[in-house]
Amino acid sequence: MIEVRDLHHEFRIGKKGQEKIVPVLRDIDLSVREGEIVSVLGRSGSGKSTLLNLIAGYIRPTGGRIVVAGTDVTGLNETQWAKFRLNHMGFIFQSFQLIPSMTAFANIELPLILKGVDDKKRAAYVQEAMAMVGMEEFAHFYPSELSGGQQQRVGIARAMVLKPRLILADEPTGSLDSETEETVLQFIRELNQRHNTTFLIITHDREVAAFAHRSVAIHNGSLVAQEVLG
Ligand SMILES: Nc1ncnc2c1ncn2[C@@H]1O[C@H](COP(=O)(O)OP(=O)(O)OP(=O)(O)O)[C@@H](O)[C@H]1O
Ligand SMILES: [Mg+2]
Repeated sequence: MIEVRDLHHEFRIGKKGQEKIVPVLRDIDLSVREGEIVSVLGRSGSGKSTLLNLIAGYIRPTGGRIVVAGTDVTGLNETQWAKFRLNHMGFIFQSFQLIPSMTAFANIELPLILKGVDDKKRAAYVQEAMAMVGMEEFAHFYPSELSGGQQQRVGIARAMVLKPRLILADEPTGSLDSETEETVLQFIRELNQRHNTTFLIITHDREVAAFAHRSVAIHNGSLVAQEVLG
């Protein structure tokens, strides 16, 4: 489902002429099979979000190759990327990224509208996704009226509503209490078992890491199997 080969990434910061180069990732090789749940560990600032954003095409790598669901995505332009994401992947953001002017319902419905799903089906899918994260009662709330954990759950429902083959999740349980975390992990498992959905999940949480089929970690810019770090 994901093939990352010899991936490198550095950021350039500061004004032109006096730019500073910030190397973040080097020599990254990662293969994730269809139906696998893989967790990504690593210290704050190690490059976990950068790796996920590269795989999702939100940023372009300095070097290397990324193949997702058989497509070499490093060659896609913005329009092709938008379409590719809609057809193949859901993304759960570390910072939620809900649209402030839209209700919880409308935020979750958006991918369905973009995909061209008709209204009747849309309402049913949104209801199902909201029920999955226990947010049915908050359909008409705006993001600013929701707690962090509730916003996170809306973000999770939005990522899952199209039942994509691949879900990339950046600290999906970071702002949830342990009970809600348990519920979220249960429906990750359910999607995985029922639809063979592949998950790449960034986490600091040992429980989430233990829940995954396999864990990798980013250490000094390189990817290592989690066992190596102990
Ligand atoms: N847009 C950017 N421009 C410049 N530097 C960036 C940018 N995004 C990230 N970085 C740098 O890349 C490094 C890795 O950041 P990243 O967000 O990937 O870390 P992370 O592992 O997700 O950390 P955390 O656990 O705190 O979320 C950091 O040193 C950060 O300063
Ligand atoms: Mg991060």
